[in-house]
Amino acid sequence: MLSKLALRTAPFAVVLALFGIGLAVPVIGEDASSASSASASSAAASSASSAPIAAASDADILAAGKHIWQDAACYNCHGTNGQGGHSPDFPAGPNLRTSGLDPDTMLQIAECGMPETRMPAWLKGAYSEVACYGNPLGPAPSGTLVSGAYSEDELKALVAYIQVNFMKQPMPTWSAQ
Ligand code: HEC
Repeated sequence: MLSKLALRTAPFAVVLALFGIGLAVPVIGEDASSASSASASSAAASSASSAPIAAASDADILAAGKHIWQDAACYNCHGTNGQGGHSPDFPAGPNLRTSGLDPDTMLQIAECGMPETRMPAWLKGAYSEVACYGNPLGPAPSGTLVSGAYSEDELKALVAYIQVNFMKQPMPTWSAQ
């Protein structure tokens, strides 16, 4: 049932999940299992004939990343265009346009934060459920801020957005898998 629902909603679920909206798709009708299996087969048939909506495009990923940049308010500390923070109200984050960080390193920093600084860890379950920097699973070490608001796919989209729009780098390769 779950996998049929996932199949039925897959083209939209990719985009929605990246936007952090999640799958709040209600199951409509009394006979949910036959209804969803019927639409699952028609979805499979239609995706075979109209491929373009089957996978999130680079543009979708970058749009999702932009959404997270705004949702997480990275700009408060790093500047509206990632140029570095100077607000008196927020800690000054460094310029991300010139950081030179490769996508994997940037993803790790976005996921696990930077211990002993004001840069939070943004990955859901960082430290407690997903190991960070070789620490055993458990509470984050003291001095480490954890927001834990986003999935890895969402943070990959965010890093892609920073790399492409702010750093003028190519689309990260892991996003094309
Ligand atoms: C509360 C302020 C704050 C927020 C919000 C914040 N950062 Fe940071 N960030 C920092 C600070 C401060 C540093 C520098 C830490 C240090 O090196 O001392 C940093 C460092 C970084 C670095 C490492 C840069 C480098 O060249 O070493 C990256 C990448 C980064 N932040 C990305 C993000 C992203 C993406 C977001 C949004 C999800 C974000 N930050 C939100 C404060 C913040």
